[in-house]
Amino acid sequence: MGSGMTVKSLTIRDIIAIKAEAKKVTALTAYDYTSARMADAAGIDLILVGDSLGTVVQGRDTTLAVTMDQMVYHTEMVTRATRRALVVGDMPFLSYQESNPVALKNAGRFLVEGGATAVKLEGGTAASLERISALIEAGIPVMGHLGLTPQSVHAMGGYRIQGKRAKDADRIVAEAKALEAAGVFSMILEGIPEGLAGRVSEAVNVPTIGIGAGPRCDGQILVWHDLLGLTQGHVPKFVKAYASLADTIRAAVHDYTKEVTDGTFPGPDQTYH
Ligand code: KIV
Repeated sequence: MGSGMTVKSLTIRDIIAIKAEAKKVTALTAYDYTSARMADAAGIDLILVGDSLGTVVQGRDTTLAVTMDQMVYHTEMVTRATRRALVVGDMPFLSYQESNPVALKNAGRFLVEGGATAVKLEGGTAASLERISALIEAGIPVMGHLGLTPQSVHAMGGYRIQGKRAKDADRIVAEAKALEAAGVFSMILEGIPEGLAGRVSEAVNVPTIGIGAGPRCDGQILVWHDLLGLTQGHVPKFVKAYASLADTIRAAVHDYTKEVTDGTFPGPDQTYH
């Protein structure tokens, strides 16, 4: 920072306060230094190093094969770039399901090696609540994740909107209250109808951060590649692309290829004389 200015990084208390002040939490995923630096400078409140890197960075169909080592590697790049945003590391499949000690060891790696402030884990079952309590007791802030939980893709029978039936909706509201009671500082609501997201948001005091959950959440999160129009192929209905960077990049690489081929690049300006 120039001119001796210091930028205060946001804490979990700041994130909770955003809801208390009836403002919206802005969140975005990032997976590397350059992107995180831009997101942070643009004023985003929270950066999630999501296990969605399995699909958008690694090109897989699901997030299931993402490892702890990969998550820590990407988290470290992101935290190196971040000055203000609160960084959350996403616990990958099987890094917390087995037992409290395994969850604690892996969550600790996000803070110690990755430099994150908090971790996120999916689900609201009794086992998830037990893990969340164990992490919070050890001083690790936790963000919850309810609704469409991608690590359960096979159990859900595909990426399907959750909570459409009344009994499923009631269960999600009950899980959200249980997550809050366990001490999460916020929770992702993914792939649920807007009415249910509104019910959950009213039922808890911590911010709900929606993705495919409509406008009644306390904040929104998008995947970096989706927001910038970098995703090629299927884009879900809930995404709004604020740029068309895939087109811009294709055109730039095309122009470069043409200029190298016809000998116009490098020109005199790019040459040491
Ligand atoms: O992995 C991820 O990026 C996520 C967000 C989509 C919420 O979990």
